[in-house]
Amino acid sequence: MSKADKLFTDGEAYERLMGRWSRLVGETFLDWLDVPNGLRWLDVGCGNGAFTEELIARCAPGTVTAIDPSDDQLAYARTRLGAKTANFQVGDAQKLPFGDGSFDVAIMALAISFLSNPDKAVAEMARVVRPNGWVATYMWDIPGGGAPTDPIYVTLESMGITSVRPANPDVSRREAMQDLWEKAGLESIDTRVIRIPVAYFDFDDFWDSNTVLIGPQGRLIAGMSMSEREQLRMDLRDRLSTASDGRIVYESFANAVKGRVPVR
Ligand SMILES: C[S@@+](CC[C@H](N)C(=O)[O-])C[C@H]1O[C@@H](n2cnc3c(N)ncnc32)[C@H](O)[C@@H]1O
Repeated sequence: MSKADKLFTDGEAYERLMGRWSRLVGETFLDWLDVPNGLRWLDVGCGNGAFTEELIARCAPGTVTAIDPSDDQLAYARTRLGAKTANFQVGDAQKLPFGDGSFDVAIMALAISFLSNPDKAVAEMARVVRPNGWVATYMWDIPGGGAPTDPIYVTLESMGITSVRPANPDVSRREAMQDLWEKAGLESIDTRVIRIPVAYFDFDDFWDSNTVLIGPQGRLIAGMSMSEREQLRMDLRDRLSTASDGRIVYESFANAVKGRVPVR
């Protein structure tokens, strides 16, 4: 397994950290994508299947193939009742193990910033989708502060601790996505921002959800000294505003892009 493969390994913990927010963005994204029922879908970087389940529920696909490098995430994805019809496989976005034109739609949810070569991944998605089919993605706007984990990034950085932002934050910008899709030769390109409310019952729920031992963030926090962890906790308490009922609520936002494979 490469370093990227091991980024996220526990499907249940991922659900608490990110899966629930992923689904919220996914709902709006799928409505916006607005494709007919019965299509052959490819879900690239499907992780624990949070978005896969959503697309099956909303889009009545003909078939769904979903790939991710993480065996553990895929094992969790296969247990989802709403994703039983999907075919989950190990695979790399930058080298898709499928023939040209095998799908009607290829999507990549919240994964593009984890790739070392996003251009290659977009070219691969365009290759495996048939002419006039759809290629689309969405990713938290990392540089713009749109990730649900942004309070953690910002607070760690204010403590002088090296960021745990995804390796390739800039491709999550709306203009960068537009450029990537243009470079891949896609047509009818459109982009948008998707905003969601992120809400925790209280500060402890925020803390426990964001320190699950999964991904670079969980591992970094687990490796901090007791005093550093306590400082992080206190600084976050100061930074996050608490509603009168004790909840922590803020807005997160993702950028999305869609385009169609040209008919040659
Ligand atoms: C934040 S998760 C998103 C999972 C899921 N799509 C969702 O919306 O909840 C990012 C995923 O990208 C996957 N990933 C990392 N490198 C990848 C690669 N080279 N090819 C495909 N997926 C990759 C990770 O294993 C992880 O499951």
